Amino acid sequence: MLTTLKKILFRAERGGYAVGAFNINNLEILQAVIETAVEERSPVIIQTSEGAIEYAGLDYLIAMVNLAAKSPIPVVLHLDHGKNLKLIKRAITAGYTSVMYDGSLLPYKQNVANTRRVVSWAKLKGVSVEAEIGAIKGIEDLVTVDEKRAFYTNPEEAQRFAIETGCDALAVSIGTAHGAYKFKEEAKLDIARLKKIDQLVRVPLVLHGASEIDQELVNESKEYCERLGDCGRLKGAKGVPDSEIRRAIKAGIRKINIDSDLRLAFTVGLRQALTEMTDEIDPRKLLTPSKALMKATVRDRMRVFGCKGQA
Ligand code: G3H
Ligand code: 13P
Ligand code: ZN
Repeated sequence: MLTTLKKILFRAERGGYAVGAFNINNLEILQAVIETAVEERSPVIIQTSEGAIEYAGLDYLIAMVNLAAKSPIPVVLHLDHGKNLKLIKRAITAGYTSVMYDGSLLPYKQNVANTRRVVSWAKLKGVSVEAEIGAIKGIEDLVTVDEKRAFYTNPEEAQRFAIETGCDALAVSIGTAHGAYKFKEEAKLDIARLKKIDQLVRVPLVLHGASEIDQELVNESKEYCERLGDCGRLKGAKGVPDSEIRRAIKAGIRKINIDSDLRLAFTVGLRQALTEMTDEIDPRKLLTPSKALMKATVRDRMRVFGCKGQA
């Protein structure tokens, strides 16, 4: 059944686990996530970025997720990294049960003002709001770890921000990054900072850029690329280890965003199909390995997040 982020995260807070928020763009990704959530009896957050809406269309995505949400598990339809206020308003009225306003790159005052505006629209419709303070930077954006650290969330500022905006969940920056290349050196999160934020902030905390980047899949991808005469892809790809994810959940993270892991699984499956089924032209058969690998990825993440069996 369709539900809000606020409700799902309230239960996660009480149970001490995190709920996976998976980015979807098409039918196959959505089916892989929902089928696995039902099999694992897990609550799930389906999220679409502004780019996903541009790609698939808002109405298509809402219709697909509404149908998927007829499943016997709690499902949230969430807008990920909303920056366009017009689109956020449209999502709130059209049927999203949760939206993120991402003003993390704006000056503090502007971020507060815009987030408050979104919260006021969302409240009227019973829709939840995730906001962000501190910025989640990729290693491609910044050269050194110290530069990346300059964008980490300040605990006192986060406390003030959550109170001033009235948001329902808060995304924090503690060392993760979006994409497949998260760390040049040791993959460590700033758990001490996270604990401090958790002590000061009353709303549930969100971890973006949390993909694991399974090295077995990276190697498999390399094998298929080698067969195509191109073995340089994904060199140096590195994600967040399960041990760091578990520490982050213990320190208060309740929503964990995953996109790159699904992209990697989809791509390895497709490369396998295109390399091994060279006579095949049926898209359903060519996408079958992708769907199986995405399901295995979601299952594995749900078990690490502790949300298996919570629905
Ligand atoms: O955090 C960003 C997500 O991975 C979505 O990426 O804007 O390319 O759809 P996207
Ligand atoms: P990854 O790139 O680590 O999957 O992060 C996705 C994300 O944070 C979406 O908002
Ligand atoms: Zn993100």
